[in-house]
Formats: sequence, C-alpha cells, structure tokens
Amino acid sequence: MARLAVFASGSGSNFQKLAEYFEDSEHSIALLIYDRKKAYAKERAESLGIKSSYVSYFNRDKEQSELEILEVLKEAKIDICVLAGFMRIISSQFLLNFWGKVINIHPSLLPKYPGVQGIKDSWESGDSEGGITIHLVDEGIDTGPILFQTKIPVQRDRGFEEFEQRIHQLEHTYYPRIVERFVKEEFTESIID
Ligand code: GAR
Repeated sequence: MARLAVFASGSGSNFQKLAEYFEDSEHSIALLIYDRKKAYAKERAESLGIKSSYVSYFNRDKEQSELEILEVLKEAKIDICVLAGFMRIISSQFLLNFWGKVINIHPSLLPKYPGVQGIKDSWESGDSEGGITIHLVDEGIDTGPILFQTKIPVQRDRGFEEFEQRIHQLEHTYYPRIVERFVKEEFTESIID
C-alpha cells in the first residue's frame, strides 16, 4: 500500500485528477507539498480532504527547504513523490533519499522544450506534433529516464488555446494511469505511444 505525495506550485489540476483516480485504490495520495502560498492546489487539497504542507523557498537555501520537505515526507510515511507542475529543480541530495521514486510530467515531447513553458515552446516551434512526457526525475531540468510519451497533431487552424487544452486533457487522462503502473512496478521498458 504505497503512500504518495504530490508536489505542485500552481493550479493543481493534475493533482486533483490523481487524487480522484486514487480514491478507490489501495494506494493513496496522502499529501500535497506546495511551494507558493497562492497555489490553487492548496484549495483543491482542502476540498479533497488531503493534508497539505507549504514549504517556503524564499530567503533560504534550497537545501534547507528540501530538508524540511524530507521531514514532512518522513512523518507522513511517503513512499513515492509525484511532481505535477512543481516548478523547482530537485537536488541530487534530495533524490538520494527517494532514489527512483520521484516521477514528473511535462507538457512536451522531451527532450524537446523542457522548462516552464513546454506547451508554448512546442506551439511556437512549428513542429507538426506535440505531446506529453512522464519520466523519472534526476537533477536536470525535465530530464531523467522516460516512462511514457504520447503525441497529438498540432492543428494550427484551431489556435493555441485549443492545443493547450488538448495537452492538458492528455495529462489528465494518462498521468493517473501511468502513476498507478509505476506504483505497481509494471515498468520494464518505456512506452512511446
Ligand atoms: C502541467 O501542464 C505540467 O505538465 C507542467 O505544469 C502544468 C501544471 O498544471 N509541468 C511542467 O512544465 C514541468 N516542467 P497543473 O498545476 O494544473 O497540474
């Protein structure tokens, strides 16, 4: 029975989908870690009845913030960390504590367009396809072994907003399922759809 913590910085729509998906599971989304006081993810946690913990990165070393997170995770007996729009690079020191147990989602076909605006960068690239990537986290920016990718055609005539929505729909559909497979240790090779 794995206990999962979701890390988010903003809206938390992926956090919500994960929480809803795992409601009937033997595994649980037991905690939300957020690093921005105004993160809407916090409100979602309250509505969902999930414990949340704010960790500040302001005016202190990243190491201190991460040590605080590690303590909270330990207290909540967390086994797996699920990054969902957490806009921070995780240090190798942190990762040593959760080796192979930190997973992330990114809204582009990595290694293309890492960083904070994957959808916009994909759209502006002129590529004919965009998509999402779910991967294990290492100390790089959206790097780490890929577990899953799926893509959609870019339909320029329908505009950027629709493209963005379709990417988020992909995330909401696949992230909970892929996290579940990850928890069940079903990955022997990456799935590129
Ligand atoms: C998602 O699109 C996620 O892929 C992206 O942040 C968004 C968070 O949305 N993550 C990254 O760009 C990581 N580099 P949400 O807060 O509504 O789940």
